[in-house]
Amino acid sequence: METNIWVVDNIVDKQSIYPQVKEAAQLLKSGEVVAFPTETVYGLGANAKDAKAVKKIFAAKGRPSDNPLIVHIAHLKQLEEMVSAIPDVAHTLIKRFWPGPLTLVLPKKEGVISDPVTAGLPTVAVRMPAHPVALALIEASGLPLAAPSANISGRPSPTTAAHVFADLNGRIAGIVDGGETGIGVESTVLDCTTKVPTILRPGGVTKEALEKVIGNVFVDSALTDERQTPKSPGMKYTHYAPKSPMAIVQGSPAFLQTLVNKQRTLGKKVGVLTTEENRFFYDADVVLACGSRHDLHTVASHLYDTLRKFDETDVDFIYSESFPTEGIGEAIMNRLKKAAGHQVIDEK
Ligand code: TXA
Ligand code: MG
Repeated sequence: METNIWVVDNIVDKQSIYPQVKEAAQLLKSGEVVAFPTETVYGLGANAKDAKAVKKIFAAKGRPSDNPLIVHIAHLKQLEEMVSAIPDVAHTLIKRFWPGPLTLVLPKKEGVISDPVTAGLPTVAVRMPAHPVALALIEASGLPLAAPSANISGRPSPTTAAHVFADLNGRIAGIVDGGETGIGVESTVLDCTTKVPTILRPGGVTKEALEKVIGNVFVDSALTDERQTPKSPGMKYTHYAPKSPMAIVQGSPAFLQTLVNKQRTLGKKVGVLTTEENRFFYDADVVLACGSRHDLHTVASHLYDTLRKFDETDVDFIYSESFPTEGIGEAIMNRLKKAAGHQVIDEK
């Protein structure tokens, strides 16, 4: 299949991006899958009401069919159509955080969203992205779009159209290229069907920000205890992994350097994932800095690109610095630990 690429400028208003978006929307309406930018990562969209179209997403990504998808909408009317109830707490969150990187899990109305989207669950995950191109595409297609991240399953999520192209060229009908996404990690998935809302996946909206608006929020215990089964099916899979094995180092740069030295005496090529502040500290085969510790948002936005960059090198092993698990740091550490298969080395 030939993959169309439409380059759009997402700074301009909806009207002026309309011609390219209209073409992409036409393909979505005819049951094809198209990748598009959101404020978090690129999504791979299909008509959420069309089971055949949605199955093409799973096929293109190689995604297990028991992992449900997020439905992307542009209007609250679309939400009302697909859920059977909207609790007060969800109304409050929608008012404050939509459009934005917050996905709400709500009870689904039967017979609206196609079955493969929700993978047999009685709930549906919905978000309204804060990206003009995503919103324009949803609007132009007139459809709710089921869209996971637009990567091959298990790979780091794409934050540029080039990442999508590298994974999915020839496997999908098109890519709307709106440049780099901003936030860089996926949306926060919040289950609103529990008495106290529960974070199933940390992401762009922090726990602290949620609690400021609705009070106490739980975190799915499986996120901190690997032995439990996560309530968000996708969280149980290895993910975001670069091709070389990786370990997270909790300790000083000097300690991390001793680990590098040990591997190198064994003849291994070693990569270090660090930040602007520490990049000149390390002596290793490849040293990549991913943002600044002074603003962890810069780390989030470059994290996946940096993980992918390691794949272009010949390192045998990667050591990554760790980050404080506050604010957006929670999502960063969650993704890093998954990328490292939970290999964490502590400086005693
Ligand atoms: O930022 C994002 O959320 C991006 C952009 C494209 O919007 N999308 C994204 O989708 O990250 P995906 O498919 O890569 O991750 C969706 C996560 C998975 O962990 C999945 O298991 C979970 O949301 N999920 C979807 N529906 C759910 C449901 N009904 N109940 C619990 N978890 C659900
Ligand atoms: Mg994903």
